Amino acid sequence: MTNKGLFISFEGIDGAGKSTHIDALARAFAAQGKAVTSTREPGGTALAERLRAMILGDPMDPMTEALLVFAARRDHLQQVIEPALKRGEVLLCDRFTDATFAYQGSGRGFDLATLCYLERLVQTVKGTAGDFVRQPDLTVWFDLAPEIAAQRLAGARVPDKFEAQPAAFFQRVSDGYLQRLQADPKRFARIAADQPREAVWQDVLRAFIQRGWLEPKFTSKMTVIADPDPQSMASDSCDNGCCNPGADPGPV
Ligand code: TYD
Repeated sequence: MTNKGLFISFEGIDGAGKSTHIDALARAFAAQGKAVTSTREPGGTALAERLRAMILGDPMDPMTEALLVFAARRDHLQQVIEPALKRGEVLLCDRFTDATFAYQGSGRGFDLATLCYLERLVQTVKGTAGDFVRQPDLTVWFDLAPEIAAQRLAGARVPDKFEAQPAAFFQRVSDGYLQRLQADPKRFARIAADQPREAVWQDVLRAFIQRGWLEPKFTSKMTVIADPDPQSMASDSCDNGCCNPGADPGPV
């Protein structure tokens, strides 16, 4: 990592338990003196957050959903992602375009070729060496069987439109993530998210240390929860209160 920013996205089916790891990574990078921007999709700007509320709350056909997701992404890229990367920051993004291929493409069955077109249209950026399609430098995929994710989500809160989908939907979403990984394996770190939370955290850390982006001396004593409460750690060793051990578009 030089003065160029670092773009990291986090993916997985609902209930895979990304959030605590994203928070912990933000602390790890900050401990190393890096400026960190944590953001999410859909969302991350005032406009995109309004679109998020519609995408997660309102019934709509798959094309409308895909177009709204990419509209939110365009605003987010222009207002938040590109400026943070230009400033040389670490940009941690809870979901990005892999989620669109997994949820709208694989999950809903929306046309993948159209999603590829929209991806290029929305994410093409002017670089010093020419135009390129913005993608994360690394995508951390929390891979979890849909049945385990469903157990974790059960009773956690009122489910949104996606969380209320049946297990078969999440199996297709999971297959969609696998296809994205197979198309670009070097961009992905696949994490077995069915382990206890601290074991998942060690795997996440390893992915960053191996790439030279985090130094072990800053992270060796870090746990995934800041200032853990020993009692809650004993009874809650994974997220959500349960545990399973075991035609070519122009540039931006
Ligand atoms: P999520 O990231 O799980 O946030 P929270 O933890 O607050 O629920 O929720 C975002 C939802 O949006 C998730 O169900 C996946 C869905 N989504 C899409 O369907 N397509 C997309 O392109 C993105 C980014 C998200």
